[in-house]
Amino acid sequence: MKILVTGGAGFIGSHTVIELALAGHTPIIIDNFSNSRPSVLDGIESVLGYRPTLHTGDCTNPVFLTSVFEREHIDGIIHFAALKAVGESLEQPLRYYRNNIGSLIDILDMALHHGVRAFVFSSSATVYGDPETLPIPETAPRKPATSPYGNTKQIGEDILRDTTIMANGTLRSAALRYFNPIGAHPSGLIGELPLGTPNNLVPYLTQVAAGNRSTLTVFGNDYPTPDGTGIRDFIHVVDLAQAHIATLEVLFSEKRLLETSPVYNVGTGTGTSVKELIETFERVTGITVPYTVGPRRSGDITSCYADPQKINKELGWKAKLSVAQALEDAWRWQQNSPKQ
Ligand code: UD1
Repeated sequence: MKILVTGGAGFIGSHTVIELALAGHTPIIIDNFSNSRPSVLDGIESVLGYRPTLHTGDCTNPVFLTSVFEREHIDGIIHFAALKAVGESLEQPLRYYRNNIGSLIDILDMALHHGVRAFVFSSSATVYGDPETLPIPETAPRKPATSPYGNTKQIGEDILRDTTIMANGTLRSAALRYFNPIGAHPSGLIGELPLGTPNNLVPYLTQVAAGNRSTLTVFGNDYPTPDGTGIRDFIHVVDLAQAHIATLEVLFSEKRLLETSPVYNVGTGTGTSVKELIETFERVTGITVPYTVGPRRSGDITSCYADPQKINKELGWKAKLSVAQALEDAWRWQQNSPKQ
């Protein structure tokens, strides 16, 4: 199948492009390189042995989108392209709503007009806010979003569901709620390469380990957890990428879905603390990571990990790779990636 991957040069997008190709699909990438580099395509080409088609442009530009949909016969869409910095979204709410919501509306419109059969939306565990139960099942309530970024994920899920209901079987869809993606392709040829200072733990940690930054700050060690640091469900990006393939396979199949536009948690089901993650990195790489403990980061929650049974059962997908494997792969990638 020909699959349009918006944000296909980004961290999760680029790994999904590879898994799509390995599964026999033809990925078509759209990216505006606002938080990625064109050199990602070289890495993808080295892994696959060929360069997937790239359309450089912005998903909020309907003229550009029309030209892509008219040129390609798209069977399915995985829509990654979005802004994702929580703090920035509080400073620039309109930019976040315009970009994340505007692009989703335009791409769904294109999907309906061009006979696209399957649509996968990138949602986030952020929709659960500070959860009342752990591990978190999909039936847990969505909490009022604490940032425009988080709100775009909730609104996005709703827009997708309403559109899918209206399409009455011609378009099938699902939203995947990602937990914390980390790691890199085991080849070391592609990985996470945020522009500027990383917001997320693992890219910051690997940059400190590489000597590109002086110290890692652990945001709080007074949480009510065994070692006082926050707990997250860190999932290898290759596992996460494969969850998209499993989702598309079911959407393209004749299999009846139990819900219209279901949501699925994509996590391992296991929580790992920030301190455990640093210790695991030190163990697998043999590098001591200089870190200090700072205050809690505003907006952070104590613990967040998935109950992944729904996706395990309904889509037959299960995370296979360990946090240790993910950190080894992230480190291999860091050593190959340009210093910034
Ligand atoms: C963050 C976002 C989330 C988004 C996800 C993916 C926030 C509050 N949440 O998740 O909405 O979907 O990224 O982009 O920004 N930590 C440190 N030091 C650091 C960086 C992080 O101690 O330098 C800690 C954090 O306090 C947290 C854990 O590491 O306990 C994971 O942080 P991070 O990688 O930023 O992910 P989340 O905050 O879980």
